[in-house]
Amino acid sequence: MTTTELTGRSLRVESCSRTYTTPGGVSIKALDEVSVGFPAGSVTALCGPSGSGKSTLLHLLGGMDRPDAGSIWADDDELTAMSTSQLVGYRRTVGFVFQSFALLPALTARDNVMLPVLPYRSGKQDLSRAAALLADVGLEGREDAVPSQLSGGQRQRVAIARALMGDPRLLVADEPTGNLDSATGTEIVDLLFELRATRGLTIVIGTHDEALAGRCDTTVRLHDGRVA
Ligand SMILES: Nc1ncnc2c1ncn2[C@@H]1O[C@H](COP(=O)(O)OP(=O)(O)OP(=O)(O)O)[C@@H](O)[C@H]1O
Ligand SMILES: [Mg+2]
Repeated sequence: MTTTELTGRSLRVESCSRTYTTPGGVSIKALDEVSVGFPAGSVTALCGPSGSGKSTLLHLLGGMDRPDAGSIWADDDELTAMSTSQLVGYRRTVGFVFQSFALLPALTARDNVMLPVLPYRSGKQDLSRAAALLADVGLEGREDAVPSQLSGGQRQRVAIARALMGDPRLLVADEPTGNLDSATGTEIVDLLFELRATRGLTIVIGTHDEALAGRCDTTVRLHDGRVA
């Protein structure tokens, strides 16, 4: 991998609340006046019991959702002041990694990595970029494999390569080791740390895994939608 001069995004969440309303009309306060910062280039574990608001906060950081109250800043950009199209633009600069990998089963590893750019363009440059990213995550030579031909850890590597396709400066990972055995999970976390070092990414990881949390620079604990 080549070392770049890029630094990750610095994020600031100020007094953010998010309430969901179920189809039956019940209100659920998933986040309750949460304030927390994520320094540029840091790796933070977001921990807390099931239902404590981890995924909700990750979605807000990634611009996939908006809080009902409060503000969110990525460097000097205020997400909460953006128009919908500006927020879509911001979202394209964030890499997402999920527990379920979210790969399309009929597509090869290379085409899965290229998914983020397929709606816009997909020339020779993108093909070679996808191959280079697959090599960066340790999958050189497996570009033409479909997900069913890959192990869980390899599928997660494809998903991480895809998350890097837009050259993000923030990587949001929701339970990235949740579907992996502990040895494979450790390898995936090693890879995330390597990417932080080589790409200067800011990384926020939602996890139940205390061993993973122990390796991160900081742990933020949520409980009932509040920072514990
Ligand atoms: N779309 C939704 N509609 C209604 N309620 C929701 C929705 N998404 C989440 N919630 C509720 O908001 C709260 C926080 O959910 P969230 O998914 O953020 O928790 P989590 O910490 O990620 O949990 P887990 O560890 O199980 O993934 C929960 O009570 C959940 O049921
Ligand atoms: Mg969750």
